[in-house]
Amino acid sequence: MKIAVDGPAGAGKSTISKILAKKLGINYLDTGAMYRAATYKTIKESIDPENEEAVVKAVENSDIYFKDNEIYLDGENVKIQIRSPQVNRLVSVISKIDEIRKIMVAKQKKISESSDVIMDGRDIGTVVMPDADYKFYLDASIEIRAKRRFEEMDDKSAMMSFESLKKEIAKRDEEDKNRKTGPLKVAEDAVVIDTSGLEIDQVVELMAKKIKGE
Ligand code: C5P
Repeated sequence: MKIAVDGPAGAGKSTISKILAKKLGINYLDTGAMYRAATYKTIKESIDPENEEAVVKAVENSDIYFKDNEIYLDGENVKIQIRSPQVNRLVSVISKIDEIRKIMVAKQKKISESSDVIMDGRDIGTVVMPDADYKFYLDASIEIRAKRRFEEMDDKSAMMSFESLKKEIAKRDEEDKNRKTGPLKVAEDAVVIDTSGLEIDQVVELMAKKIKGE
C-alpha cells in the first residue's frame, strides 16, 4: 500500500502520517527531513546557497539516509540539527534546485518501490508516487499553522516572535508553491482535508475511513 500526504508547513502532515503508519502497520517516510539534511550539509560546509553547482556537488557527495526512522547525514544523526532556524530559512532555496530534486525524488521512488509506505512532503502525490493508492492534501489557515509550529518550539524567547514565524512560514509556502519543478500543489485525485478546526485524532480517523472505503 502506498499513501501520499502533501501540504504546506504546519498542516499536521508528519504527526498524522506517523500515527496512521503505525495504525496500518506500514513504514513512514518524512521527505522534508531529506531536503533539510541536504540544507544542513550546505550550511555545515559554508556553501553559498546561490552557487547551485557547489550545492549539488556537496549533496551528491553526501550520504543521506534513515536508520530506525531517524535521519542521518554522512553517518551522523542530524534529527536535531535539521530543525534549526537556519535550516528553516534556507531549505526552500535548496529544495528548488532541479538537480537536488532529481536526487531526492530518485531516492524516494526507490524506497516506495520496495515497501508499503506513507510518505509526506510537497510533491509526493504529483511526482514521487503518482500511482499511490491514496492521496491526501492537508491544509490549514496560516494563523493555525504558525500557532502549531510556535507551540512546538522549546525555547520560544530564544527563537523568534510569533509574527516573524508566521512570515517565515508564509514565505516558505510561497517558494514551495511557485518553484518550477515539483511545486506544492493539490494532486488531481487527492482528498483535501482542512485540519484548521480538527484535532489530530479526528484527521487520522477521517483518513483511515477513506482508506477503508467508508
Ligand atoms: O516538511 P518540511 O516542512 O520539513 O519540509 C521542509 C522543506 O523541504 C519544505 O518547505 C520544502 O521546501 C522542502 N520539501 C520539498 N519537497 C518535499 C518535502 C519537502 O521541496 N517532498
